[in-house]
Amino acid sequence: MIKVGIIGVGTVGTSVVKILQKNRDIITARAGKEIRPVFGVVKNLNRDRGVDIPLSDSVDDVLNDEEIDVVVELMGGVDDAFKVVKKALAKGKAVVTANKAMLAYHRYELQQSANRQPIGFEASVAGGIPIIKALREGLSANHIVSIKGIMNGTCNYMLTKMMSDGVEFDEILKEAQELGYAEADPSFDVGGYDAAHKLLILASIAYGIDAKPEDILIEGIENINSEDIFFANEFGYNIKLLTIAKKSGDSVELRVHPALIDKKEMIAKVDGVMNGVSVIGDCVGETMYYGPGAGGDATASSVIADLIDIARNGNNSPMLGFKKILKNDILKLKKADEIFTKYYIRLIVEDKIGVLSKISNILGKQNISIGSFLQKQSKDAKFATLLFSTHKCYEKDVQIAMKEIGECDFVKQKPAMIRIED
Ligand code: HSE
Repeated sequence: MIKVGIIGVGTVGTSVVKILQKNRDIITARAGKEIRPVFGVVKNLNRDRGVDIPLSDSVDDVLNDEEIDVVVELMGGVDDAFKVVKKALAKGKAVVTANKAMLAYHRYELQQSANRQPIGFEASVAGGIPIIKALREGLSANHIVSIKGIMNGTCNYMLTKMMSDGVEFDEILKEAQELGYAEADPSFDVGGYDAAHKLLILASIAYGIDAKPEDILIEGIENINSEDIFFANEFGYNIKLLTIAKKSGDSVELRVHPALIDKKEMIAKVDGVMNGVSVIGDCVGETMYYGPGAGGDATASSVIADLIDIARNGNNSPMLGFKKILKNDILKLKKADEIFTKYYIRLIVEDKIGVLSKISNILGKQNISIGSFLQKQSKDAKFATLLFSTHKCYEKDVQIAMKEIGECDFVKQKPAMIRIED
């Protein structure tokens, strides 16, 4: 039998306990031994969790319990959780964690310990979708060409509603929080950080790259408005918060930002709170993974899959997918200003002679060629909304042009931009 202590018995922890009990027979048959939840740690002992295991409010009760074989860390946060996980490993316990923020910072330090004690983290990326196993085991013969993911259900729910019902950002955020998908601090969701944490974990497995959130481009969905939705619908795009990992030559670009994606792409069809990840491998071509990225039972499904792996064989897979460093293929992280893609630009300007030519002049000076253009008259006849898409150009040039345009006296609002991925 494997005995499990759970630190953090909230939505996911409660589901872990209940599923281990409800599906005990099949889990035991698959694992070869029973996996029993024996102890939980919570912050507030007065709240009923609806589970019949002993609870304590002290993490040490789990860490010092010699009977416990595996610690399931569901407490969240970065530094405290990292300390707890390190202590559990030092005491010879295996660890299963759903904590993407901690792994975004500390996965390589933990990998050192994982040589001795298994660490499972399937639940940290895309909730119930087994994307870690798919990348680490199923696709291990491939060079990974790219990973494109929709890995934040809160943003995807909000953007889907904005596209279909024309609601504005502020209205829909509250609804998403009430549905229980958002992080404790929703700016982690809408600011793109939650998705970025997940991307960094996948990038390690795909490319062996040790990047931290500060190293990559992260933009959220806070500035998307109904004009952008109008443009997207008009030109056959969906707007998604997209995580992108792409290899070209000896460098990898890692970025998270809202993107206009052709409605015909598979990834553009991932709607509502669902998550989707497209992985292109050099041998296999495009593979696509779809499912619930959050929620108690779905996330618990991944936590328990890791527990079963540990029960079966101690989990022999290298934690981050590499047994050795790939010496001839050490990849650099591409700088954000080297991104080369198409862009959509939104401007609100005074509607007067010469404005459009001044704007196209500034774009032309930066080698930015216009692909399509729409002008919308605002209710106040003095102003117009200009919506452009560009042909492929460099991020650096777009940033310079946006700054210069923003400084023109006829521009009435900070220019907005969304990258186009097709
Ligand atoms: N807040 C996350 C989301 C939950 O909205 O997808 C799972 O990481």
